[in-house]
Amino acid sequence: MSQTLEAGATARARAHSNIALVKYWGKNDVVLNTPAVGSISVTLDALFTDTRVTFRSGLAADEFWLSGCRQEATKVARVLDLVRQARGTHLFAVVESANNFPTGAGLASSASGFAALAVAASGAAGLTLTDRQLSILARHGSGSAARSIFGGYAQMHAGSAADGSDSYAVQLLSGADWPLAVVVVITELGAKTITSTVGMGASAASSPFYPAWLATAPGDLADMRAAIAARDFVRLGELTEYNCLKLHALMLTTRPALIYWNAATVAAMHAVRDLRASGVPAYFTIDAGPQLKVLCLPGDVPFVQEALSNVAGVHEIRPSALGPSAFRLD
Ligand code: DP6
Repeated sequence: MSQTLEAGATARARAHSNIALVKYWGKNDVVLNTPAVGSISVTLDALFTDTRVTFRSGLAADEFWLSGCRQEATKVARVLDLVRQARGTHLFAVVESANNFPTGAGLASSASGFAALAVAASGAAGLTLTDRQLSILARHGSGSAARSIFGGYAQMHAGSAADGSDSYAVQLLSGADWPLAVVVVITELGAKTITSTVGMGASAASSPFYPAWLATAPGDLADMRAAIAARDFVRLGELTEYNCLKLHALMLTTRPALIYWNAATVAAMHAVRDLRASGVPAYFTIDAGPQLKVLCLPGDVPFVQEALSNVAGVHEIRPSALGPSAFRLD
């Protein structure tokens, strides 16, 4: 592309949040932000980020605004630097973002946020990127964002190339290929205290379980792929809950300990297990925050909602179908 980028070049994009069934925790390369383990996720229709990127003249640095409030822009600038480099421009950008859900409380706002940023920034710069290139670009902002480029079921490859070029996500199935529901259970509205980036660095440095976490990841990924290929919900659910609890065992044995659960989180875990004992196949998973995401069959959503609404400390319950890939809004 030879023409210089015009000031005022702009684009908007929407990306949906995702929840990992087999989790990413730990990095191979901190600068490239490549994960130490692969991961598999489902994209959520009910939770999304809308982002506009506008390149402007006269800016001394990139600006990042979330729901009208100015934010720290270091990670955003990392993604924009790569777009500037590919486009051959020195223009800084204004990034205006809004989530339709609470930010920074373990609902994967960085996943939808950086996926939307990758699509909007490359679009504003006039770059035509493949989904793989978008996934790699989003990864530089946040590892989990590489998966939110895709709807339905996505797998992130850890990769091993020194430049990070084989560390990207791919789609396994669309949501229409195998519709499942995820009920998001919000037990705390405030922002979390320890970010995933900091937490996973601490786990790698201090938990005696970290080597086991790395060693067992490939087996979990292969099992999950097989469960998805066979549309075997019970196998998918059992493995999701097991992998989540393994991650939290790693977090709990980090020094100082990463305890992301509150009392309502634990009560909700028991409610899901009780519901399952009563015959409704439902399985929970939890990221670096106090919220639960409960996987179930679409027809069972009312039973899950009913069971979780009786748990003390649950603020909000948001059922979601599986969501689409990230896309341009204009
Ligand atoms: C527990 O993608 O937020 O949600 O790459 O450092 O930004 P960074 O981490 P991030 O970590 C997500 C961790 C997790 C599990 C997962 O989504 O796979």
